[in-house]
Amino acid sequence: MPTVGAASASGAAPGTGAAAAQDVLDPRLLKTQFPIFSTPREKPLVYLDSAATSQKPQAVLDAMDRYYATCNANIHRGVYGIAEEATALYEDARRRFAAFINASPREIVFTRNSTEGLNLVARTYGAWKLKAGDAVLLTPMEHHSNLVPWQMLAAERRLELRFIPLTGSGELDMDALPRLFADGKVKLVSFVHVSNVLGTVNPVAEIARVAKAHGAVVVVDASQSAAHMPLDVKALGVDFLACTSHKMLGPTGIGVLWGRRELLEAMPPFLGGGEMIRTVTLTESTWNELPWKFEAGTMCIAEAVGLGAAVQWLQRLGMDRVFAHDRELAAYAMARLGELEGVRLLGPPAEKRGGVVAFTVDGVHPHDVATVLDRDGICVRAGHHCAMPLHDALGIPASVRASFHCYSQREDVDALVTGLERVREVFAR
Ligand SMILES: Cc1ncc(COP(=O)(O)O)c(C=O)c1O
Repeated sequence: MPTVGAASASGAAPGTGAAAAQDVLDPRLLKTQFPIFSTPREKPLVYLDSAATSQKPQAVLDAMDRYYATCNANIHRGVYGIAEEATALYEDARRRFAAFINASPREIVFTRNSTEGLNLVARTYGAWKLKAGDAVLLTPMEHHSNLVPWQMLAAERRLELRFIPLTGSGELDMDALPRLFADGKVKLVSFVHVSNVLGTVNPVAEIARVAKAHGAVVVVDASQSAAHMPLDVKALGVDFLACTSHKMLGPTGIGVLWGRRELLEAMPPFLGGGEMIRTVTLTESTWNELPWKFEAGTMCIAEAVGLGAAVQWLQRLGMDRVFAHDRELAAYAMARLGELEGVRLLGPPAEKRGGVVAFTVDGVHPHDVATVLDRDGICVRAGHHCAMPLHDALGIPASVRASFHCYSQREDVDALVTGLERVREVFAR
């Protein structure tokens, strides 16, 4: 089968083309574009923590360097050449991101990360629209970022929090939806697209359809999906979607909140300050147009440029291929880990998940597992992964998580399996 992986250092074309739809990624080739993997160290890096943050290709680092080296200036205010260049780069990143998720650039708000995007929705739309007695529907598999903001708002506004129950295999129990919506109290539904623990890919469009039929607004946490599968906000039929650049091969410090234009237009602003205003007097202000109404103060300019480069790089790679690669690797990891005595896998079968595989090892605390693996240069996440209620529901305090991106290889999974055999040896003594 043809492989895809040879992008140039400028970020150009990891081998796309009309005939490329069935091509598979070659993570070995892609890895050469991520400088972290060629940085000399005692043991080769086996990076299995892309759900926490992804590695960054040279093209992203170069784009950010170029901005600082050639046209560093503040945006939207200078009338001189490099300020205009900086503004053009920043707005170009917005346009690229909009195209990436099939949205209008006006609907793309740059934030600091997913957490800020979700808080923005709770604090602006939520605080504006939700009244005492209304219910917000969530799931038990939410990252704290999509739970705590709603808890805070619920406490302030006397809202009810409801949860779509989980099935035994770690999926959402869709049969429960009619009951949850029956009394008409649910005014907003907010849930994760891909669980950062179970890996479950939730049926966003289906949930959105039911929510809309009951007049509820739909918010999606796409932190674990935006860089792993094709996303089309129109096809999903949702109202808001939040994601975070650092999990998308881009830099830290920037995220995106997409919102439907009518809602963003009608909502009050989030933070007040420079750039988000149209007019200001000593006693009152009016707001800027979208999306700048939600971008107060000097924004993350270099980071936007980096995110734009990351999105371009991913687009050229092909999001269908990235998803197929993640899923294939998840299936391989589940098969290999499943052979190990005492290893218990969490979540649904591979065909229902993205590139995340969490597990426990009988008799060994996840932190001990991760510490022993680290001796072999293997990076996995151990803990509750900011999903304490989910771990409570699973009856475990913590888990170990291996997660993948386009540069992850079967050999990385093999190294994990060998490492886990060592873990068992160490703790059998
Ligand atoms: C599902 C999910 N939601 C939200 C977040 C929060 O992302 P950030 O810390 O970049 O805001 C994460 C990060 O791990 C996540 O996995």
